[in-house]
Amino acid sequence: MNMTNEFAENQKISHDKDVLFLIQKLKNAKDICDKNIIIFDTIDSTNTYLKNAVKTEKFVHGTVVIAYEQTAGRGRLGRTFYSPDKTGLYMSILLDSNKFEDEFSKNPALFTVTAAVAVSRAIQKKADINVKIKWVNDLYLENKKICGILAEGILNSGKISKIVLGIGLNLTTVDFPEELQQKAGSLFGFSEIASAFRLEMAAEIIDCLFEAFNEDKQKIMSEYKKNSCVIGKTVEIITATETYTAKAIDITPNGELVVEKDNGSCVQLNSGEISLKLF
Ligand code: BTN
Repeated sequence: MNMTNEFAENQKISHDKDVLFLIQKLKNAKDICDKNIIIFDTIDSTNTYLKNAVKTEKFVHGTVVIAYEQTAGRGRLGRTFYSPDKTGLYMSILLDSNKFEDEFSKNPALFTVTAAVAVSRAIQKKADINVKIKWVNDLYLENKKICGILAEGILNSGKISKIVLGIGLNLTTVDFPEELQQKAGSLFGFSEIASAFRLEMAAEIIDCLFEAFNEDKQKIMSEYKKNSCVIGKTVEIITATETYTAKAIDITPNGELVVEKDNGSCVQLNSGEISLKLF
C-alpha cells in the first residue's frame, strides 16, 4: 500500500452507515454496485484515487467512490473542478469495457454522452429540474455550469480496459472562486442540504446510469440532442491551433459536434482537445 492509499484508508473508515444507506436506495444497480462502495471525507480526486487503486486492488465493475470534499478535483483538458466540503456530489464509477459493446471502446465519447443523459434524468427525477447539456460533458442550469463529467480510460496493451467515470454535481455550492463566479452555479439556491439527500441523488444517478447503458444508443443520443443547449447556437470553438466562431448544427451518432463555419463548410468536431464557449 503506498502513502496515498494509506491516507485514503484512514479517510474512508467512518462511513459504513452512509454506504449502507446508499445501497438501500439503489434500485436498478443494486447487484452491480453494492459489491463495492467507498466513501471518503476528503480526498484529492475520486478519479485519481480510482485510477491508482485499480493498479493494486481487485476493484470490480461498478465500484463507486464518493468524496464529501476533493482538494484537487479534475476536469477535462487539465482543468480543475472546484469541490468544496459537503456542497456537492463528487463521485467516480469504475466501468469494465468488456461489459460494453465494441462501439463504446471505439468511441469513448459515448460514455460521456450516456452519463450526461443519465445525470440529467436523475436530476429531473429527484429535484424536478430540467437541465441542459452542453456538448460534450457539462450540464447547465440557467446559463451556468452545475455539473461536469470526466471519463478517463485505463489502457491495457494499447486497448481501453477500464473507464473511470467521474461526475461532479454542484448541489449548494455558492462561494465559487472569482474566476468561476460568472460561469459556475448550483442545482439549488439554498445553502444547506441534508447529507441523506446527497446520497439519494448519488443512488438515483447510479441507477439511471446503468439503466441508460442498457438502452438503445439511438434513444440516448436523441435525448442528448433534445436537451442540448448548443445545437442551433453560434459558438466559439477553441482548438490547439485556432479559435473561430461557427453555428452548431448537429451531433453525430458518435457524439461529434457538427458545426457550420462562416464560409458555409461543415466540420465534425471530436471532443478530444476542443473547448467550446457559448455566447
Ligand atoms: C469537467 O468539468 O470538465 C469535468 C469535471 C468532473 C468532476 C468530477 S468530480 C468527481 C471526479 N473526480 C474528479 O477529480 N473529477 C471528477
